[in-house]
Amino acid sequence: MSKSLARDDQQPSAPPPLAEPLARVVNIVRELLETAGAEAEAFIREWPKALIARPVVARSLPVVASLQGLPPYAAPGTRALVEATAALAGELDWRQTYTVADFGRRFLDNYGWSEWIGERGAFVSDKIACGVLLLGPDTEYPAHSHEAEELYLPLAGRAWWRAGEYDWRLREAGEWIHHPAWAIHSTRTGAEPLLAAYVWRAGDLSAKSRIES
Ligand SMILES: [Fe+2]
Repeated sequence: MSKSLARDDQQPSAPPPLAEPLARVVNIVRELLETAGAEAEAFIREWPKALIARPVVARSLPVVASLQGLPPYAAPGTRALVEATAALAGELDWRQTYTVADFGRRFLDNYGWSEWIGERGAFVSDKIACGVLLLGPDTEYPAHSHEAEELYLPLAGRAWWRAGEYDWRLREAGEWIHHPAWAIHSTRTGAEPLLAAYVWRAGDLSAKSRIES
């Protein structure tokens, strides 16, 4: 795995400490993309050929506490990824796109994401953004849309998802979900928190989603 790491500044110093364990995690996501069918082909083509690390400043959020109880809610194929994310949680850069004015304080206390590949993530790409979304229990991520095409893989926690013409559907961990560009989508958790990997391609990879509700 370490031979796939490269630095963009060509300095002889060691890669950032997070880079090697996180490279193992993103390579698992890349392997799982092979199971996502034809919709994953463009994402696989645009996945970075080498993982070029940039430094990450660790930032936490209230929702990160939800991670520790999540491994029992993983699927067999996603459990390693959930455990690795929980183990690295304190070193990751957890962020929020929305404000209290958008969706209220309770939502912000139960929502966060960490980008691992992309224009802001631990590994550089201007073709792909990849990371994880974390929602606490009994939380609705209201309807929104974005230019980027998106694949989601719920890693742990059963949740309801709605997109385009589809009404709410219960999705299990391990079940890929595809959102075309500008598809309006929302997600709702019940008793279990949700950890889901996402991959974006095409369009503005750092854009705030358009709120549709
Ligand atoms: Fe989305």
